[in-house]
Amino acid sequence: MYRDIWLFSTTLSLPADLPSHTQRERESRAMFPLRIPILTMLVCLTVGQYYDYDYEPASQLGQSSANCAPECVCPIHFPTAMYCDSRNLKFVPTVPSGIKYLYLQNNQIKEIKAGVFDNVTADLRWLVLDQNQITSDKIAKGSIDKLTGLNKLFFSQNNLTEAVIPPSKSLDELKMMQNQLTKIPKGSFNGMKNLTSVDFQHNKLTTESLNGLFKNLNSLVSIDVTHNKLKKLPSGLPSSLEVFYADHNEITSIASGDLKELPKLAYLRLAYNKLTDASIPAGVFNVTNLMELDLSYNKLKSIPEVNEQLEHLYLQVNQINKFDLASICKFSGPLNYSRLKHLRLDGNNITHADLPDESSSCLRQASDIIFD
Ligand SMILES: *[C@@H]1O[C@H](CO)[C@@H](O)[C@H](O)[C@H]1NC(C)=O
Ligand SMILES: *[C@@H]1O[C@H](CO)[C@@H](O)[C@H](O)[C@H]1NC(C)=O
Ligand SMILES: *[C@@H]1O[C@H](CO)[C@@H](O)[C@H](O)[C@H]1NC(C)=O
Ligand SMILES: *[C@@H]1O[C@H](CO)[C@@H](O)[C@H](O)[C@H]1NC(C)=O
Ligand SMILES: *[C@@H]1O[C@H](CO)[C@@H](O)[C@H](O)[C@H]1NC(C)=O
Ligand SMILES: *[C@@H]1O[C@H](CO)[C@@H](O)[C@H](O)[C@H]1NC(C)=O
Repeated sequence: MYRDIWLFSTTLSLPADLPSHTQRERESRAMFPLRIPILTMLVCLTVGQYYDYDYEPASQLGQSSANCAPECVCPIHFPTAMYCDSRNLKFVPTVPSGIKYLYLQNNQIKEIKAGVFDNVTADLRWLVLDQNQITSDKIAKGSIDKLTGLNKLFFSQNNLTEAVIPPSKSLDELKMMQNQLTKIPKGSFNGMKNLTSVDFQHNKLTTESLNGLFKNLNSLVSIDVTHNKLKKLPSGLPSSLEVFYADHNEITSIASGDLKELPKLAYLRLAYNKLTDASIPAGVFNVTNLMELDLSYNKLKSIPEVNEQLEHLYLQVNQINKFDLASICKFSGPLNYSRLKHLRLDGNNITHADLPDESSSCLRQASDIIFD
């Protein structure tokens, strides 16, 4: 539940209806990358669906313009968008020139044939393929590999085993949630200097499959690999990274250098992994920019050292049996105190009585310390 609390205290708005917005507004919204993961979760939690991009049912779109695939609708007042979603399509229609936004979600598409994008190779900006049954081997050469201008690729809830990444230096957002990915070709993201967010939740990726992939991508702020098969953090994460979510993996250890190379990391989630005290080097989480650290559902016996700047620390359901105040404040004084607001310790072997008397000075900002 704590996530809901945190989410709803974050200022954000759900996307407004698409046709009433100009492309410029839409693109400027996409420039607040931190809202992407927050929004994803919000939408998943509250609406229970995956349309976290602008979307309006085709029935409300009005008349179609002339330059449109017969199976689809291209609104006269938004003629660069082609809506082909939710109509039992088994194939991707040939996309006419002029189309920049293509919606194909919620169909029964199993393959993408060569040539369907030939008239929009440089122009297509958004490609939405969520909720289909596309397998990696049925994506023909001469389709996605020709899209050089794509900004957003949404390819969640399909049957991909190997990621197919378009060769677009303009790609800024990629979502391939809920596939069966085990492989991402090395070098897939090379030179994608504008890539800000990648989401591979619910796949079968290992640490090896991610090693080095994101190197030097200096716009990348958010990586979500929740529900995969990582055993440690991948190498070569870019120094721009602010959000790293890897809940529900098999992570057994963190290396002492891992977070030092991520000076901007603010949100780190490693819940439901296999971390123990011995597998966490001293001070590894004591990094100044970290605001939220989730280590719940691991096997920790003590509170790891964290920086005074940390605001949210989740340690519920571990095996913690003592309250080490020094892990949170090495020194306490008028200017030496923790910025911690929320601390969860429920599901451990510890009660309120274990809180040391001198903790009030250190934890003066804590509004919420939960023991059970
Ligand atoms: C694709 O472009 C060619 C050449 O401009 C044109 O003849 C053809 O009609 C276009 N096809 C579609 C589906 O727009
Ligand atoms: C895709 O995966 C779903 C669920 O696992 C399965 O029912 C379906 O048959 C698969 N489709 C293809 C084309 O592999
Ligand atoms: C990257 O983003 C910047 C700022 O939005 C833009 O000016 C630039 O053209 C983009 N680069 C590519 C390769 O799309
Ligand atoms: C965290 O690191 C700083 C130096 O960067 C150090 O002064 C401080 O004592 C450390 N905090 C804890 C709780 O170990
Ligand atoms: C924090 O406490 C240490 C040790 O007492 C002291 O050296 C340091 O100056 C203090 N820092 C601040 C900002 O008060
Ligand atoms: C829980 O803590 C109590 C007192 O601190 C201790 O006696 C007991 O052995 C601990 N239990 C476990 C399972 O660690």
